[in-house]
Amino acid sequence: MLLQKLFCGLVLVSICAVHECFVSAQTSAVGDPGMRRDGLRVAIEAWNQCNEVGEEAPNMGSPRCADCFDLYNSTSPIRLVHRVTERDNKLGISNATSRGRRGPLDVNQYAAWKQIYLGTKCQVQGKPKPWQFWMIMLKSGNMDTLAAICPNNGRKAYPFKSDSVFPCFGKGCMNMPLIYHDYTTVYEDHGSKKLRGSFYGTWDLDNAASVTKELITQNDSSYYEVIWEKEVGKRSWEFHHILKTSLKYPWLMLYLRADAATGFSGGYHYQTRGIMKTIPKSPKFTVKFTLEIKRGGGPGSQFYLMDIGSCWKNNGQPCNGDVTTDVTRYSEMIINPSIDSWCKLTSLQSCPPYHTLPNGTRIHRSDEENFPYEAYHVYCTPGNAQHPEEPHNFCDPYSNPQPQEILQILPHPVWREYGYPTKKGEGWIGDPKTWELDVGKLSQALYFYQDPGTAPADRYWSSIDLGTEIFRSDNQVAEWTLKKKETLVPSPLFHPYDQMPFEMESKGVGVQNGGKQTAILIA
Ligand SMILES: *[C@@H]1O[C@H](CO)[C@@H](O)[C@H](O)[C@H]1NC(C)=O
Ligand SMILES: *[C@@H]1O[C@H](CO)[C@@H](O)[C@H](O)[C@H]1NC(C)=O
Ligand SMILES: *[C@@H]1O[C@H](CO)[C@@H](O)[C@H](O)[C@H]1NC(C)=O
Ligand SMILES: *[C@@H]1O[C@H](CO)[C@@H](O)[C@H](O)[C@H]1NC(C)=O
Repeated sequence: MLLQKLFCGLVLVSICAVHECFVSAQTSAVGDPGMRRDGLRVAIEAWNQCNEVGEEAPNMGSPRCADCFDLYNSTSPIRLVHRVTERDNKLGISNATSRGRRGPLDVNQYAAWKQIYLGTKCQVQGKPKPWQFWMIMLKSGNMDTLAAICPNNGRKAYPFKSDSVFPCFGKGCMNMPLIYHDYTTVYEDHGSKKLRGSFYGTWDLDNAASVTKELITQNDSSYYEVIWEKEVGKRSWEFHHILKTSLKYPWLMLYLRADAATGFSGGYHYQTRGIMKTIPKSPKFTVKFTLEIKRGGGPGSQFYLMDIGSCWKNNGQPCNGDVTTDVTRYSEMIINPSIDSWCKLTSLQSCPPYHTLPNGTRIHRSDEENFPYEAYHVYCTPGNAQHPEEPHNFCDPYSNPQPQEILQILPHPVWREYGYPTKKGEGWIGDPKTWELDVGKLSQALYFYQDPGTAPADRYWSSIDLGTEIFRSDNQVAEWTLKKKETLVPSPLFHPYDQMPFEMESKGVGVQNGGKQTAILIA
């Protein structure tokens, strides 16, 4: 095996078997490959059921904040210069008119504006494009159906009596969380210099006076916390996450997202900012990270080992911001072993129409002998699909600003080819793991709806996320760490990248090693 570092994170890998060599080069799509940069760029955002703000939490400003700093190590002590001030982080709708624009923005547009503003403060020059930050995303599933705040498949919604699907304790149940911030600081720990900072808070507004970690053990309060830590000049950042639900907030989500640095990111219809300077495209990209799950979040916790989000229209064209024809596409691998398959021969509407084998062979969902029902949690068709195969199951029309399509998969041997978990419990509590997922190849093989006779969409994934969605279960706690394992060859922590194949060998490209794609990266 030959490994050569070329320049700036572009790596040439060649593996030679007895008769043939395969050569491939890879470069990172994220601004901070392997999360190694001391000068961290991280931001936080909060969404309601339909990915908007609705109303700002009292005294919190717009729910977009950032912690971005540069480290100057030539002085003693080390100097840490923050690029985003408390004043920036506190900006809210009350500041909207003072910034020289024609009409005031509404609270949702203001949040989108604030994210771009924070992006300008955090931006780092990079090739081929500048980049801004990792994004911590919070979402509450509460929905006041009588208030008709969330559009129905991108169209005007009308009030309806809440059935059991959407939790809501009454007026104001869709509130934004309280967001508190410990700016990153440097401190001494056993003779070494460490960096540490955090965002934390709760959705329970009446707890404003007493938001501490104690809320985790208290009945009955929601809580979240993300702490980042790193040793100066060494290793990579560790992100430690906690999410707790309560009776009033039984459906909560917390993810760490790698979003596109420009354009729309998955599930969001405003321009966003993010860490990905190149948008990964199926089938050629891989994601690497180390994940340790300490607490699972209970039987309803849909822990996403990998959650990818994109947008394209049913005719295959890219999205353009028209919420009636744009369709958010999601696919998620759920690793909580207590989540079962809803896709069954007796429940075909919860299965994609077919499963595609790595060699391209399609197996129809009615093929009882061969279709891998247990590999799928649930599939749902975009609400604006004109010709879905029967029987079908439309996706929830309210939880996105536009129609959406969701394909959730479960550990199963059919995903072995892509480096995904093959059996229940793999990577779960007590089994921390470094994953190298061939997300590109998998996402190319997965079924996504398009209108008949239309050219297949180019599958670009503008959001690559990891975290949990605790679905309608109160007082559950999830806790997990994203961190790097020590290995001989440094490998990135959370690392989507484009493969840029070198056409050096007539044998073609692709790194092959006993059927499993392998890549060694130095970033
Ligand atoms: C300062 O940081 C640079 C870049 O990370 C590193 O090469 C250098 O060794 C550091 N210097 C000290 C004194 O730590
Ligand atoms: C934003 O508005 C708040 C409340 O009106 C005010 O205290 C603060 O100074 C404003 N911030 C800026 C940057 O204008
Ligand atoms: C909190 O409530 C749950 C049920 O909702 C119960 O099982 C648990 O014992 C309670 N914990 C405390 C500390 O009261
Ligand atoms: C594809 O793979 C399946 C399962 O390994 C095999 O049964 C089938 O013959 C293959 N088809 C082609 C066209 O190679």
